[in-house]
Amino acid sequence: MEQQILEIDISNWQPTGANTEWIAALEAGKVLYFPRLAFALNTAEQRFLTPDARDPKTRNISLDAAGKLKGAAGDATAQAEMAAMVGRFREQARTLINAILPRYSASLRLAPTSYRPMQVETRAQSWRADDRRMHVDAFPSRPNYGERILRVFTNLNPEGLPRVWRVGEPFEQVAQRFLPRAKPYIRWQAKALNFLHVTKSLRSEYDHLMLQLHDGMKSDLDYQRNAGQVTMPFPPGSVWVCFSDQTSHAVMSGQFMMEQTLHLPVARQYDPDASPLAILTRLTGRALV
Ligand code: SIN
Ligand code: FE
Repeated sequence: MEQQILEIDISNWQPTGANTEWIAALEAGKVLYFPRLAFALNTAEQRFLTPDARDPKTRNISLDAAGKLKGAAGDATAQAEMAAMVGRFREQARTLINAILPRYSASLRLAPTSYRPMQVETRAQSWRADDRRMHVDAFPSRPNYGERILRVFTNLNPEGLPRVWRVGEPFEQVAQRFLPRAKPYIRWQAKALNFLHVTKSLRSEYDHLMLQLHDGMKSDLDYQRNAGQVTMPFPPGSVWVCFSDQTSHAVMSGQFMMEQTLHLPVARQYDPDASPLAILTRLTGRALV
């Protein structure tokens, strides 16, 4: 299998000069891996490296676009410090993306920043929600009409434990394998889901097919075992970036991760033809949104 991870040896969140090799790799669905880009916690913040940092009723802590912290435990002071820590990661992630992908800058839409203090490997869940199975990201309740999902991750583990991912085959191969098995899009069903508020807007055929790929991959144990893939242990003190709606990925183990999601209109890519929307449109031969 072609190399799916591009290692980039910089230690500065704001490198100068966009590099066309990095851009093409990212837009081809590869993971950009920055082994020397560490997100530093100060001494006081290190006390948040425990699952007790979160409200026991939730799994993740998140900082919404308006700067409000959700899902955190502790008093007002602790919560303000946690918001500052997560907010600092948000700013560093944006600085990095703006520096290496300047064409995106004006068009990125910020999603909440999340801090995940829970251990991956002990989580029990349904096959559909199990991110230990390789998948492309697709969300049942929030149709996105092809808008891109760009994500910046960092591993904060204080015990030296990596966050172990599997990275699978390129999107076009995933689509070629699972499109023939996809259930057809039925417009009245999409309308019913919208009417019942199962979806926040009308699910497009694109959104339907992305969910079919997500479910097709996760439900196929033979595919999970035998598809082309590499196992990648991301060590603490590293950052990695990918389009998670395109990169086939799974998380196998790890604890203490921060993540920033940014949404991008397909038209603002350097090469819109490399997007999942363009690939699926080409393979089906019809407009999907
Ligand atoms: C995912 O997007 O599948 C989860 C990634 C992670 O938790 O590392
Ligand atoms: Fe995912």
